[in-house]
Amino acid sequence: MQKITLTKPDDWHVHFRDNLYLALTVPHSAAQFGRAIAMPNLVPPVTTVGQAQDYLVRLREHSPAGFTPLMTLYLTDNTTPADIEAAANSDFVHGCKLYPAGATTNSDNGVTDISKLSATLAAMEEHGILLLVHGEVTHSDVDVFDREARFIETTLEPLVKQFPRLKVVLEHITTKDAVDFVQQGPATLAATITPHHLWLNRNDLLVGGIKPHHYCLPIVKRHSHQQALIKAATSGNPTFFLGTDSAPHTRANKENACGCAGIYSAHAAIELYAEVFEHAGALDKLEAFASHHGADFYGLPRNTATITLAKQPWTVPEVYTYGNEVLVPFMAGQNLQWKIINE
Ligand code: DOR
Ligand code: ZN
Repeated sequence: MQKITLTKPDDWHVHFRDNLYLALTVPHSAAQFGRAIAMPNLVPPVTTVGQAQDYLVRLREHSPAGFTPLMTLYLTDNTTPADIEAAANSDFVHGCKLYPAGATTNSDNGVTDISKLSATLAAMEEHGILLLVHGEVTHSDVDVFDREARFIETTLEPLVKQFPRLKVVLEHITTKDAVDFVQQGPATLAATITPHHLWLNRNDLLVGGIKPHHYCLPIVKRHSHQQALIKAATSGNPTFFLGTDSAPHTRANKENACGCAGIYSAHAAIELYAEVFEHAGALDKLEAFASHHGADFYGLPRNTATITLAKQPWTVPEVYTYGNEVLVPFMAGQNLQWKIINE
C-alpha cells in the first residue's frame, strides 16, 4: 500500500463555531492538525482579548493533547490600537480578521470603511499581529463573481502599500487574479487555499441543479480559476498555504430557499488536499503547503509530530451529528482515495 508521512499540518483558517457544536468540529480538526486558526465570527463576534480567552477555554475543553487552537479578533469600526496592544500582550491572539461588513456569514459587525481603521492597522503592523482578510467588496452593483478581483484592486493593493510591514493573509483565494497578485506582491503578503476551491468550479455548483452544499463565499469560480489555484497550491511557492475555511452549517440551513454559505471539510481536510496534489503529480509538494509555509509565515515553529496517509479508499459519511441537528460534510457519500492512519 502506498503511504506518505508528513510533518503534522496546521489549518490556518477554520470555523469551529461554539458550545454544542465544538464536540464535532474540534475533534475533527485535532485528528488532522497540530494547530488551527479559529475564526472569530461567532454570534456575537469575538472582538476583545477577553472574549478570545473565554472562547479558547471552551475550545480547549474539546481539544486532545497535541492540538492547539490559535485565536483571532474580529475587526469592527470600533477596534482600537489599545485592543491590538492587548492582543499582542497575550500569547494566544495571532491575527485580526477583516470582514467587510455584509460580505459573508456573521459579518454584519464587520468593517464599513477600512480607511477609518488606519491607527488600528498601524498598531497591528507595529506589534506583529497579522491581518487576515476576507477579500470581497460588498457593493450591490458588483457581480458576485467579480467581488474578489475588485477587492484586490480597490482595497488590498492600496492597503499593502500603506502598511509595508503589516503581514497580510488573503484568505480562501478563488481567482487567478488573486494568485497573480499574491505571487507578485511583497513578502509580507500570503494566501490560504481551501480544499473546496481546489475541488470545485461553478459548474459543480450550478449544472444539473443547484447544489447548496457547494455554496460558499467567496463563491466558486470558473474552471480556469480553479486550475490557477491548483497550480499555485502545488507549486511549492511558500506564499500559498493550507486554510480549509471549514464552515459548518446545519443541513436545514443549507438546504433552504435562502441557504447559508459554507462548506464543512474538517472531517477529511488533508485527505482532500492529498487527492488534488496526487492528480497534479505533486504529492511531494504537499508537506510544504500543509505543514511548513503557514508556520513560517506566521513566525511560529513547525510542528515536530507527523501524520501518515495511506492510499486506502473510504466513503465519507452522509451526515454527522451537529449539536442537536445534522450537517452534510463535503463529499458526503463519496469515496476519497487517501486516509490518515495511526501507525
Ligand atoms: O462560505 C463561507 N462560510 N465563507 C465565509 O467567509 C464564512 C463562512 C462561515 O462562517 O460560514
Ligand atoms: Zn472563513
